[in-house]
Amino acid sequence: MKISDPKLIAAIGALGVEHKPGVPLAAKTSLEIGGTSDVLLIHKHESLPDLIHLLKQAGVPHRFLGGGSNVLLPDGELPWVILQLARQDPDVRFEGNSVFVDCAADLGRTVTTCAKHNLGGMEGLIGVPGSIGGALRMNAGAYGTQIGTFVREVRVYRAGIGRIETLRGAEINFEYRHTSFAPDDIMLSVRLELPSKPYSEILQGIRICNEKRRASQPLNQKSAGCIFKNPPGGSAGRMIDELGLKGHSVGDARVSDRHANFFINAGHASAADMLALIADVRERVRDRYGVELEEEVIVWKDR
Ligand code: EPU
Repeated sequence: MKISDPKLIAAIGALGVEHKPGVPLAAKTSLEIGGTSDVLLIHKHESLPDLIHLLKQAGVPHRFLGGGSNVLLPDGELPWVILQLARQDPDVRFEGNSVFVDCAADLGRTVTTCAKHNLGGMEGLIGVPGSIGGALRMNAGAYGTQIGTFVREVRVYRAGIGRIETLRGAEINFEYRHTSFAPDDIMLSVRLELPSKPYSEILQGIRICNEKRRASQPLNQKSAGCIFKNPPGGSAGRMIDELGLKGHSVGDARVSDRHANFFINAGHASAADMLALIADVRERVRDRYGVELEEEVIVWKDR
């Protein structure tokens, strides 16, 4: 979506928000799929309430994009203006075992920065791509670790009431790849509490997780991680594999040869290709196992 009203553009600029017209969004996602739209880059959290108010008044539909590592965007001109938080510098601050992190910060980089301060616990999350905000929203997890365990406070813009609020960790429900945040909540910053651990020990844990991940996941390919959530007590990857679907493709959207729950963009896949592959695999799993797989990746539906 394009913002063309010069008054609105000027008002956005006056808030210190950067207006970037016609951005190719594929470059902002790990699947490298997605059309174009204007992007509004937010440098100061405090400008969010006024910005959203402006957009609402002007009737401009908008959506918030985090690190882009767990999302499938539509093709073509998107029907929303895209909001993104600019990376703050520095984005991590320490106070004892508390770590204050900006939600635009990279998750993996945060894990290693904390390790250097002898704060561990998050080793399992090391290879999970994306931002802290995205990790919070999905309660990112791997190798027995989930980020929610360490969350003590989250500063969040609650679009529903138009205010920035601080939620205590205990008020938030963190479940398997699901949280109680409202769909239009925008995570701004978080306080994590991490256990003290010697750097060398954390590093050893990080190495083990990296090796496990390298051995089982297609890390050098364009993907959004696992496409489906695991059904209760089951494994989406194993079921898709058992159906002989590794390598199965629609256009350039392909089931990874390495891990069957990773769908990769093997060239120039469109969102339509990826959605068709998702629908096809879901149907085959339903037919064979009677299980309805639920997407783990967040699909932005434009109609
Ligand atoms: N398996 C197969 N074939 C495959 C893939 C897996 O037979 O192609 C089997 C494995 O051998 C294993 C079982 O399925 O017995 C489970 O596989 P794996 O250990 O790879 O874990 P997963 O359940 O597929 C989950 C998360 C990953 C996370 C890993 C490691 C989900 C949907 N996936 O994968 O998270 O990295 O555990 O903890 O919960 C993500 O969220 O995007 C993601 C990749």
